[in-house]
Amino acid sequence: MIDLRNRVSLITGSSRGIGRTTALKLAEAGSDVIVNYVSSKKAAIETAKEIIRMGRQAWVVKADVSEEQDARELIGFIRREIGQLDNIVCNAATGGFRNLLDSETKHFEHAMATNVLSLVFLARAAKDLLVNRPYRSKVVAISSHGADIALPMYGLIGGSKAALESIARHLTLELGHLGVNINVVKAGLVKTDSTDRLPGSEEMFAGRVHKSMMGNRVLEAVDVANAVLFLCSSLSDLVQGEILTVDGGAAIHV
Ligand SMILES: NC(=O)c1ccc[n+]([C@@H]2O[C@H](COP(=O)([O-])OP(=O)(O)OC[C@H]3O[C@@H](n4cnc5c(N)ncnc54)[C@H](OP(=O)(O)O)[C@@H]3O)[C@@H](O)[C@H]2O)c1
Repeated sequence: MIDLRNRVSLITGSSRGIGRTTALKLAEAGSDVIVNYVSSKKAAIETAKEIIRMGRQAWVVKADVSEEQDARELIGFIRREIGQLDNIVCNAATGGFRNLLDSETKHFEHAMATNVLSLVFLARAAKDLLVNRPYRSKVVAISSHGADIALPMYGLIGGSKAALESIARHLTLELGHLGVNINVVKAGLVKTDSTDRLPGSEEMFAGRVHKSMMGNRVLEAVDVANAVLFLCSSLSDLVQGEILTVDGGAAIHV
């Protein structure tokens, strides 16, 4: 049984989608949770209310994690108001679905800032809270198959996810010996607001059922959250700098 009581977890982008489900999953295991959002205040408050209903503490903090100042202020709030941070889940992502040849430099920079630099901003700002605790602190980033394979209109996000995975490994080198584990969950396709906007997602979802080895059991946000929960727990203390794929086996074969 995973027990995260007396732990404090920050999940970026936990107003909706996989982030929200992960926040609830960590709270269910006993963690208090900082719910972060950038625009969906009402949804973030709903996530927090549900966590409080579970008997845990929740704080709602607006911060655009693509902005270093916002990331610093988010961690500053946690340091000041809570004084403890054990887990960071870098879940927030953006990028827009467009061909690389139709994109502008600002689109690329925005995807990189939100999906990659946010991890560095948060790790840098929170280092003193995370290191040399009586137990290991955990940082988990959420990646996708676009890091390894080409998908239509996914070049900006896919490129950023490849960078995210490399940055996670390099951060591991810098923080691993100080008591911090950094790992990545690479998720298959999950129905959320963002995949509803992904061009051709209907065909991808249909193809995914065909490629998965799980019969009609489709991948859901909770499956990703379960992997994050494992990586935030002491069960994964010896898992370091790794990528854990959660997709029902869809990506291991042609
Ligand atoms: N869905 C999939 O199939 C899939 C597959 C593989 C990996 N992933 C990854 O899983 C993660 C979550 O995806 P999702 O599908 O759940 O996304 P989603 O439904 O679009 O939710 C995105 C969340 O990120 C927040 N966010 C976006 N930009 C932000 C910023 N600059 N600062 C702070 N928060 C920000 C949003 O906040 P607001 O509500 O305030 O806008 C929202 O809570 C992403 O890293 C995504 O790449 C998803």
